[in-house]
Amino acid sequence: MMEQFTEALPKVELHAHLNGSLSEETIQRLISLDTKNTFTSAETVIAKGSKRTLKDCFDMFQIIQRLTADAESIKYATKAVINDFVADHVCYLELRSTPRGNSATGLTKRSYVEAVLEGIEECTKEHSDAIEVRFLLSIDRRLGIEEAEDTVNLAIEYKKSSKGRVVGVDFSGDPNARDGREYLEILKKAKQSGLRLALHMAEIRGLQRENIDLLSIPPDRIGHGTFLHEELPCEDIVRKRQIPLEICLTSNVKGGTVESFAEEHHHMHRWKNIGQPFVLCTDDKGVFSTTLSNEYRIAAAESGMTRQELFDLSKRCIDFIFASDDVKTRLRWKWDTWKEQHSSLFL
Ligand code: IMP
Ligand code: ZN
Repeated sequence: MMEQFTEALPKVELHAHLNGSLSEETIQRLISLDTKNTFTSAETVIAKGSKRTLKDCFDMFQIIQRLTADAESIKYATKAVINDFVADHVCYLELRSTPRGNSATGLTKRSYVEAVLEGIEECTKEHSDAIEVRFLLSIDRRLGIEEAEDTVNLAIEYKKSSKGRVVGVDFSGDPNARDGREYLEILKKAKQSGLRLALHMAEIRGLQRENIDLLSIPPDRIGHGTFLHEELPCEDIVRKRQIPLEICLTSNVKGGTVESFAEEHHHMHRWKNIGQPFVLCTDDKGVFSTTLSNEYRIAAAESGMTRQELFDLSKRCIDFIFASDDVKTRLRWKWDTWKEQHSSLFL
């Protein structure tokens, strides 16, 4: 069965927001740890077959973020999410999250970053053969340039001091909020400082002007890029530079920006048909109630990819990770060894 194959397949996850990735069990556990009972139960997961608007999704993120408002719960959440990915045979993970302070708990952006890094450190010690984890600091475009500058400065600092764990910056948040061009200079600064850039782009229509400017930096990977192919100069740039797209099938459909997974609706097919590099990702596996295995299964069902093609797709993701060439070499060896040991699955 394809389901068992995609589950067993070693995978790379490059687009996972920490707070959107919390499972229902982890959310329940965090609610039970919330001694001040500030949390009144609310919907934080979009059930199978249901859809919401993008605005509903951003409301959900804000609810979940109330549960990770101190260093201890952030560390707990980080470890829980990594464990979930290990269970789904993800061998390399780039986790991203928006550092935020909270005066009531004494949390600062710096202690937020430290808590995520401690979670990564402890968890990867436990699973050292199973997974490698890196961290991208997210800029929430809703919060303005000063917040973004703080985040990039922290990313620059932790790139040097986190033993290679902090590798880049993510640009995300509600695409209806502000003009992405406000962030151009600070994103350029991040890139010039050696940080790699994964930018959410064209998640909704009508962002052509910011898209062209953001592409000029250029980003190392593009999140979603849902409507980029409708904008000719943008498509050309993305193709010429061979910038990989992070494709999040379930997220797009449940978040209501794409009607269905089918070829006439979902942009994955178009990029695949023209040979553009892309990686399959979950985005927010908790909120969208999915797994990376499930995303591979959907991609296969909708595009007719064979097991060999799915293996090649998951191995190709290694080319686009932000970690060093040594890590890439190790991962490629892991993939090849897995294939040798599972050759019967390909017959
Ligand atoms: P956090 O950064 O770990 O708190 O994860 C939740 C945050 O990720 C949200 O508040 C958004 O800023 C961002 N995010 C999650 N999913 C999406 C998406 O599909 N588009 C844009 N931003 C997103
Ligand atoms: Zn995202």
